[in-house]
Amino acid sequence: MNKPNLYCRANGVQRRDAEEILDEFGHLMRWEKDGKGSLLDIGCGSGDVLMDFVVPRFSSDLVRVVGTDVSEHMVRFARKIHGDRKNVSFDRLDIGGDLKHFVNKWGRFDHITSFYCLHWIRQQRVAFGNVYSLLKPGGDCLLVFLAQNPIFDIYDQLSRSAKWAKYMTDVELYISPFQYCENPAGELEELLSSVGFTEYKIQIKEKIYVYEGIDNLKKAVKAVNPFSERMPMELQEDFLDDYIGVVRRMSLSQNCGEDEDDCRFITPYKLVVVYATR
Ligand SMILES: C[S@@+](CC[C@H](N)C(=O)[O-])C[C@H]1O[C@@H](n2cnc3c(N)ncnc32)[C@H](O)[C@@H]1O
Repeated sequence: MNKPNLYCRANGVQRRDAEEILDEFGHLMRWEKDGKGSLLDIGCGSGDVLMDFVVPRFSSDLVRVVGTDVSEHMVRFARKIHGDRKNVSFDRLDIGGDLKHFVNKWGRFDHITSFYCLHWIRQQRVAFGNVYSLLKPGGDCLLVFLAQNPIFDIYDQLSRSAKWAKYMTDVELYISPFQYCENPAGELEELLSSVGFTEYKIQIKEKIYVYEGIDNLKKAVKAVNPFSERMPMELQEDFLDDYIGVVRRMSLSQNCGEDEDDCRFITPYKLVVVYATR
């Protein structure tokens, strides 16, 4: 994901969920007791979820907040918009990669948050192991990511069409590792304990988000899908039209008559919430 300008204008579902999850699970984080400490956010994207919903939860000044993302574009954008805030920095981090350089620079953290990021990572064991290593002993983390979402089925269907196949040869890299998993909580339990966590809570939340109007759905899909940017400009709109076509065939739309603005797209999905302490 490399489109911070598009993303921060089309991330309604991510913002809604971050706020709801922090309302429900935020009290578990030990930040409300000590107020101080350091916070790492993994996959911060454009940085607005971190700055609008996470940072305000701390009762007093944090010693340090580091927002991170694998995308240099996202990091640069977040730094430009939010980088002048006291004690706040943004840096590049691939949570599925090697941490040595990052840990040498920043050390370990009291708290870690991550919203809508970890389903992007193939090497789940490496990613969760890295989260564990980045926490100080006694530190805690709140990790929120997608288990299942129709967007991944739609990618899969489009990738099988002759028209789009050549742009989507690596489609499986962009489908949540839990999309076709019958017991995501069970798999995660095994994963968390295998990397060293002994105290954790896992919840799978069934949620619905409604996109009002074709334009809003297209903007949201454009902001997160990695395939459009591989196509010539003149095919990008066509791709989004075919995406909408699949949504309609999956009976996820309502009111789609004459006026595109009246059309509603119902998205049922499953979100994983993990709270764990080291
Ligand atoms: C949907 S955005 C979420 C942004 C923000 N947390 C929010 O809730 O609005 C997912 C972000 O995860 C980042 N990401 C994907 N793979 C990553 C990785 N291996 N390490 C760190 N960040 C990653 C993407 O670049 C993207 O900015």
